[in-house]
Amino acid sequence: MTGRFITFEGGEGVGKTTQVSLLADELSARGLSVKVTREPGGEVVGEHIRSLLKSFSSHMDPLCEALLVFGARRDHFVKLIKPMLENDVFVICDRFYDSSLVYQGVLKNVSTEDIMLMKKMVLGDFEPDLTVVLDLDPEVSMGRLSTRSLNLDAYDCMQKGEHEVIRNGFRKTAEVFSFRSVLIDASGSPARVFSRIMGAVQPLLPPMTARRAAAG
Ligand code: TYD
Repeated sequence: MTGRFITFEGGEGVGKTTQVSLLADELSARGLSVKVTREPGGEVVGEHIRSLLKSFSSHMDPLCEALLVFGARRDHFVKLIKPMLENDVFVICDRFYDSSLVYQGVLKNVSTEDIMLMKKMVLGDFEPDLTVVLDLDPEVSMGRLSTRSLNLDAYDCMQKGEHEVIRNGFRKTAEVFSFRSVLIDASGSPARVFSRIMGAVQPLLPPMTARRAAAG
């Protein structure tokens, strides 16, 4: 596969969505083909599973939830991610399987062994080229969430303790998958966070793109 697959991870309110779109704009401005997608979701089946999870997650058996997330991931991978990468596209994905390890694994006690078994079935040896893990003090991320619209979903309404568990879970995945992960301090302005992210993305860019950026 000749494209590049960049995933963003982190708890609620850490600024993933903003940073995903800043990165997409930057890469497009450099003349690269870019596709932004998200999990659960991406394709029709995945988006349906996403709304199911968002509405009924609190009533669901954790293993059922994990299986649904991985079902959505399989469809997303086969129909969108893989073909795009085969066509030289930079695919930027808002969450990927590290989120399953944290939300279904750490938070809901599905074993790491079971999650990695599902990962193997669905993705084989496939891994992101880069995972940007946004790390932020829950006090700050919860403050950001409280300024969002009233349309907060079940995941956004979690208590501080859970936000801390999630933060530590992602710090752990960044460590375990250090060969593909970079832990980014998500505090400060979006522009400052983005410049930290670009430092990590730069080595993935084609040489001409990198040189132009350095000159300009
Ligand atoms: P999120 O990415 O935060 O988007 P939004 O901005 O719409 O809230 O929401 C997706 C939720 O899905 C997130 O809270 C975590 C959950 N999720 C899992 O539980 N497991 C997974 O594997 C993935 C990818 C997401």
